[in-house]
Order: sequence, then C-alpha cells, then structure tokens
Amino acid sequence: MNFHILTLFPEMVLNGLNTSIIGRAVNSGLLSIEAVNIRDYAFNKHQSVDDYPYGGGAGMLMQAEPVYLAWKAVEEKIRARRSLPAENDAALTEQSGTPDQTGVPDQTGVLDQSETSGKRSRVVYLSPQGDVFNQKMAEELAQEEDLILLCGHYEGIDERVLEEVVTDYVSIGDYVLTGGELPAMVMVDAISRLVPGVLHNDVSAEFESFQDNLLEYPQYSRPEEWHGKKVPPVLLSGHHANIEKWRREQSILRTKERRPDLLEKCELTEKEKKWLEGLEIQKEI
Ligand code: ADE
Repeated sequence: MNFHILTLFPEMVLNGLNTSIIGRAVNSGLLSIEAVNIRDYAFNKHQSVDDYPYGGGAGMLMQAEPVYLAWKAVEEKIRARRSLPAENDAALTEQSGTPDQTGVPDQTGVLDQSETSGKRSRVVYLSPQGDVFNQKMAEELAQEEDLILLCGHYEGIDERVLEEVVTDYVSIGDYVLTGGELPAMVMVDAISRLVPGVLHNDVSAEFESFQDNLLEYPQYSRPEEWHGKKVPPVLLSGHHANIEKWRREQSILRTKERRPDLLEKCELTEKEKKWLEGLEIQKEI
C-alpha cells in the first residue's frame, strides 16, 4: 500500500514513521510512505503558502493553489504508475464537489470521470470537523492501493481546493491539534498494520481490541509470579479450549467495565448473555 502525505512538515511525518513495525514494512517494500512538501509548489519567490483570510479573523490560511498543485503531482504520478490516462483540468473541474467516485452513471445517465479514465485516489483531509476515525474505517482504507492524506496547518486550508480534491474528512477525536500531521501518522499506523504481511502474524490483527467490538483480554508473560501476583492458572493448563473460553469471558467483562458503549454493539451468544446476567445477579446478592 502506498501513502502520500501532503504536508508543510515532511520530516515530522517521515521521522515518526520510520521505526519499528512500520519502518520495517517500508524497508521490505510492503508499504511506501511519501511525504510531499506543499511548499515546493508555492508559486511566489518567497515560497509562502499562506495568506490572510478574507473577511478577517485570527491567523493565516493555507492557499488553494500550492495544495492543488501538490495533490495534482501526486495524482498524476499514481495514474502514470497504474498506466491510467492523465486527467485534464476540465475533467477535474467537472468533478469538483462530487466526493462520490463510485463510477455509477448519474441521474442523467452520464458516466462520471472514474468510468472513463479510472478512479481517482481517495484524498483524506485531516480535520476536527471530519468523521471520527475508528477501526472499521481503518479496515476499509486498508483496501486502497494508494491513499493521499492532506495535512492542514495554521487556521486550515482555503475551502475551494478542499471542495475539488478531498473525498473524505477524518478527525482522530474531539480535540484540536496544531496540524494534521499527527492525525495522519495515527491513520498510517492503524491502516498499515492491517496490510497483509506487515504484522508477520495475520492472526494478531484479526483477534484483538475492537474486533467484534470487544476489548482484548489481559495477557501475561514470564515470570509466573511477579510482586505476589500469579498468572491465572488456566493459562498454564495447556487446555486450549478452556483458554479460549477464559479469554473470551475476560474480553466481555473488560468491555463491560471499560467500554459499555461497545458492548451494546457486540454480538454475544445466548449462552454468554445468560452467563453475564448470572454474574450481575451474583453481584446484587
Ligand atoms: N487537525 C487538528 N485537530 C485534528 C483532529 N482532532 N483530527 C484530525 N485532524 C486535526
């Protein structure tokens, strides 16, 4: 999978993503992470990319043109690699404001541009105004071959270029950061570990926190006793069915205790529901 991060701070994202599991996956060619410096597409001799907002207000805004040119360079590179014809600017303008690139004819029967010249890559704009990122989104985005992440800074980006290039608005939570770089890194990490081969162990990506809306069960390693606390005996029993049952129960209990909102979305078996009810009754006695 190929990530293309449009940013004013390329070193920040590259330095944050070049170690450990993600760094290894990049070195082995499973992932590529390209940071494109929007400043390289500034159109004035001072290489400035920001200006005052019309109508006044605090701070500066990233201008439309450098963002557009940086995006266009990336999109053209992707199209050339995939041997898709280049888009012309008229096609770009026609598509502006239409994030749905499904390639389905519109009500007039006209095919959208993706039918004739291949789909554009998805472009995620990191913003506190977006849909809140979650595991389901990570799974969906991990299916993409290329993903473009657009990081804003200062007070944001001129709305007109967002309308033209952005397909998805994503927030990583209800708080405001100084820019989109950290959120982009969070997304790259969460998506990358779902790309086959990145974890060297497909099982661990499958059975962990948030799969089935359950949190992960507690885990223990050596020694068997630490600070007077013993590893639960079932884990030393070698009885795989009992271990699986214990883990599932621990996941359910932990989710109920720490994230009851998730437990409501979780599909428990009738037996598990009865078992939980039994525990509740015992507590009340
Ligand atoms: N940019 C600033 N704050 C952000 C957030 N919470 N999520 C995504 N992008 C952001």
